Amino acid sequence: MPDTRPETIAWEDGRLKIIDQTRLPAELSYVYCDTVEDVWDAIKQLKVRGAPAIGIAAAFGVLVALRNNKATSSDALTKKLDEAVSYLASARPTAVNLKWALERMRSVARNMKGQPPDRIMSALREEALLIHDEDRNLCRKIGEHGARLIRSGATVLTHCNAGALATGGVGTALAAIFVANEKRKKVRVIADETRPLLQGARLTAWELMQAGIDVTLICDNMAAQVMREGKVDLVITGADRIAANGDAANKIGTYSVAVLARAHGIPFYVAAPSSTFDLTLRSGEEIPIEQRSPDEVTEGMGKRTAPRNVNVYNPAFDVTPARLITALITEKGIIRPPYKRAITAALCGGSSRGHKKPARGKAGRGVA
Ligand code: MRU
Repeated sequence: MPDTRPETIAWEDGRLKIIDQTRLPAELSYVYCDTVEDVWDAIKQLKVRGAPAIGIAAAFGVLVALRNNKATSSDALTKKLDEAVSYLASARPTAVNLKWALERMRSVARNMKGQPPDRIMSALREEALLIHDEDRNLCRKIGEHGARLIRSGATVLTHCNAGALATGGVGTALAAIFVANEKRKKVRVIADETRPLLQGARLTAWELMQAGIDVTLICDNMAAQVMREGKVDLVITGADRIAANGDAANKIGTYSVAVLARAHGIPFYVAAPSSTFDLTLRSGEEIPIEQRSPDEVTEGMGKRTAPRNVNVYNPAFDVTPARLITALITEKGIIRPPYKRAITAALCGGSSRGHKKPARGKAGRGVA
């Protein structure tokens, strides 16, 4: 089936074009990023957001940064590139895909030391396009694996937006739903609105409705009641960074959903490509959590909803401990506990022990 979704990110005539997600759902509009500062701002302000999408945007951001450079040697070009990489990496700290994509760009230049700058530039362009293209394929594979976990007629609860808007393809968590529905499983979705910036309400609800998928929006604080009423069969979310032990950082509120899922015996899955795993971190304790402006909490939707100068704490992400995650859905397949061994086997090759068959309800009834 041809994919008619609007492209979240495009490289068009040497310019980076993105959907401005801050304007959705009111308006589907695009912005061009002509300078590296434009790219940094677009990532910081969440015009482009979602772990894989910011990695892709940053890779193109390197091209934007080097576009008009007059470097006459590979060393001069690499110096400029290093500056762009450090600058773009500083836009958001949690999603490891940002650093991952930038490091890929950096190694292209490093491996071509001594070669003419124009040759290095075309290799960098190829690499950015490849990162984008690969993500499209990874999303599809994640969707195929994830769809196997969804039975016909099931209702999936999701948090934030891990769809096409967050990736270079059909998404991660939402990919499983898109593919399941292509297989005529008639899956329904409950979307948490996802305070404070409402990615669930503004983006997931919009994206699913565009695709003709049955979606019901709830406020975040309704999830427990909805689960208690037996309306949720499984939860699937995305991730911004997954540590070697399977702990997964995702949009703030994901951890609460995982605790609730465990309390109600509902399987909780995290869908992510291998570029979201950070095997240099032993556990989620080491994942840097982005702190964002208090304004997002006190006047997120342009209207003041709290007293001026009130103290605000606004972490943009939380970490769900691996013990609450039923399985990780990746392009390599479904990874099940014990995670440390299974993640290494799936991502670095070798033994695939630790991959077990799905078992609905095995998540346990009490909060672990
Ligand atoms: O702050 P955001 O909107 O960039 O947060 C996005 C998420 O938390 C997503 O769930 C995650 O990046 C996975 S996207 C496939």
